[in-house]
Amino acid sequence: MSATIIDGKAISQQIKDELKVKCEALKEKGIEVTLAVILVGSDPASQVYVRNKKRACEYIGYNSLSYELPEDTTMDKLLELIEELNSRSDVDGILVQMPLPPHMDEKKVINAIDPSKDVDGFHPMNVGALMVGDKGFVSCTPAGVIQLLKRGVPDLDISGKECVIIGRSNIVGKPMSLLMLRENATVTVAHSRTKNLPEVCKRADIIIAAVGKAGVITKDHVKPGAVVIDVGINRTDDGKLCGDVKFDEVSEIAGAITPVPGGVGPMTIAMLMNNCYEAAAMHKLGE
Ligand code: GUN
Repeated sequence: MSATIIDGKAISQQIKDELKVKCEALKEKGIEVTLAVILVGSDPASQVYVRNKKRACEYIGYNSLSYELPEDTTMDKLLELIEELNSRSDVDGILVQMPLPPHMDEKKVINAIDPSKDVDGFHPMNVGALMVGDKGFVSCTPAGVIQLLKRGVPDLDISGKECVIIGRSNIVGKPMSLLMLRENATVTVAHSRTKNLPEVCKRADIIIAAVGKAGVITKDHVKPGAVVIDVGINRTDDGKLCGDVKFDEVSEIAGAITPVPGGVGPMTIAMLMNNCYEAAAMHKLGE
């Protein structure tokens, strides 16, 4: 038996097309959606991410403002720009591409963004809102995983399922655990100190791998029929993109699985676009 492949590219396209329709409806009311994107320095991967975010805005019909600052920009200058964008009523979302150059304090930068414009969902106020079940922006990658599960495996009822998340980062593992809890899953967060990882993972009906190491999740970690979501984006020695999961062997036994590329990756931008819409609806429609 071989797994259903969950098509993240198609699902992200579906979400972007839904947002395009909603954006047109806003425009008919005279409301525009605007995302400000800040990139400091010239990291090639960050440049690609930022370009893709701007392209997605263009596709849906949002305005994007682009701020490309030199590597040696001071913290004060960056904070000044964030302050200006915070106070502008036309700007709905502010995104500062990470990582920042080493002389900058990422936490301080995140804390400076108005939580109502924090479309990345990184501000402690939004993280706290997720923790206590209040409305707020949710980090885009874990939010995208929920959509992949709901839209890509429509007959999966998450409630009561055993979910094992591998990884405990602030951007993926921790918010992922809260989102799965919100869906009434029984959640285990495994990490680098977890003992007997294969045994822990084998309990899972749903495995979410966010380790950042190529191919660490093998068929020995997976219960037959389990749903496997691979958040990893790694490069092999020969430069090929690959996930945390050994796709060839795990897809033989899993019930459903995301590929890399074409799984979780495209969902992050789709959910960012969704957060921008929500920000505009909140600021400009009072929703
Ligand atoms: N760098 C890598 N992923 C992200 C992301 O989702 N948001 C921001 N701002 N920076 C990133």
